[in-house]
Amino acid sequence: MAKKTVMLLPGDGIGQEVMAQVVRIIEWMDTAGVASFDLREGLIGGASIDKFGVPLTDETVADCLACDAVLMGAVGGPKWDDVPFDKKPERGLLRIRKDMGLFANLRPALVFAELAEASTLKHEVVAGLDVMIVRELTGGIYFGQPRGIETLPNGDRKGYNTLVYTTPEIRRIGQVAFDLAMKRGKKVTSVDKANVLESTILWREEMEVVAKDYPEVALSHLYVDNAAMQLVRNPKQFDVMVTTNMFGDILSDCAAMLTGSLGMLPSASLGAADANGKRNALYEPVHGSAPDIAGQDLANPLAMILSLAMMLRYSFDLDAAADKLEGAVKAALAAGFRTGDIMQPGATKVGTKGMGDAVLKYLAEA
Ligand code: IPM
Ligand code: MG
Repeated sequence: MAKKTVMLLPGDGIGQEVMAQVVRIIEWMDTAGVASFDLREGLIGGASIDKFGVPLTDETVADCLACDAVLMGAVGGPKWDDVPFDKKPERGLLRIRKDMGLFANLRPALVFAELAEASTLKHEVVAGLDVMIVRELTGGIYFGQPRGIETLPNGDRKGYNTLVYTTPEIRRIGQVAFDLAMKRGKKVTSVDKANVLESTILWREEMEVVAKDYPEVALSHLYVDNAAMQLVRNPKQFDVMVTTNMFGDILSDCAAMLTGSLGMLPSASLGAADANGKRNALYEPVHGSAPDIAGQDLANPLAMILSLAMMLRYSFDLDAAADKLEGAVKAALAAGFRTGDIMQPGATKVGTKGMGDAVLKYLAEA
């Protein structure tokens, strides 16, 4: 059987450094006979702008579509602040999501026991936390038309975007959330702003329609302002949260901090399943390119490494390999290895590569 192909898009800033640790792990898995992939590599974001003048080329999109999964680092940085809006590094990320049809973004906020003290929230509020945020990723205000900035006849300028959702868009993301809930705690919280926005009145109504197919799952609704408050007040009340593109963007950063650091949160972006059950998929850490610490061996590679674990699980059904990798991350944390962002008194401070070393060590010992 042909080897499965994985496309690597390290991107910018710390994206390159954290991806390098993932490549070491993939190489180890190959040698150890755990899993074997054919790796390709491409450019996205600022790295692509520098070489091709655009944040993502048609060729790279085609290469990604031809691969079985994509692993992405992060995009952006001050170097590209002055490029026109439609050529910014972030446009590359938004385009790859759209062109691959990656409508479902899974962002699990899981607190490792070893890191419960690293959170800025009280230990008892976050210890044992396991929330799955399901963010709609190819619709809503990020992509709605019309959009733009115009000059009015009186000389004033007007900027506008459109928050739009259709029933199929809401139902398919709802199904992803309910399917996940069936394998977890059987609770879905749908987050909207139905007291103000019509598009999310529709969102709420359609979630109720989807819920009819899942009688075992309890559905509740929260307005986004209340959801943000509840996430920091009592996050353990949640199992699966499903929400729009922009609300999901905001709430997932908030949820990331519950886990101790943005450097810990992986994500999976999935498309619709074809007749064979195969989905387009891209895996990336929730954190950004962190230009302030890039190139200094300071970045935490664990969100990227945990994104690799999600790839093993969701794209290749390699659950044992994913368990093993997540186990090695836990073992490295239990042994006291910490990057700066999760540093605690008495722990052993390591850099990006040092954390990669630690994970590899415990992988080999597992
Ligand atoms: C994320 C990021 C992106 C988003 C940016 C970089 C375009 O914040 O993945 O959460 O807003 O989706
Ligand atoms: Mg974000």
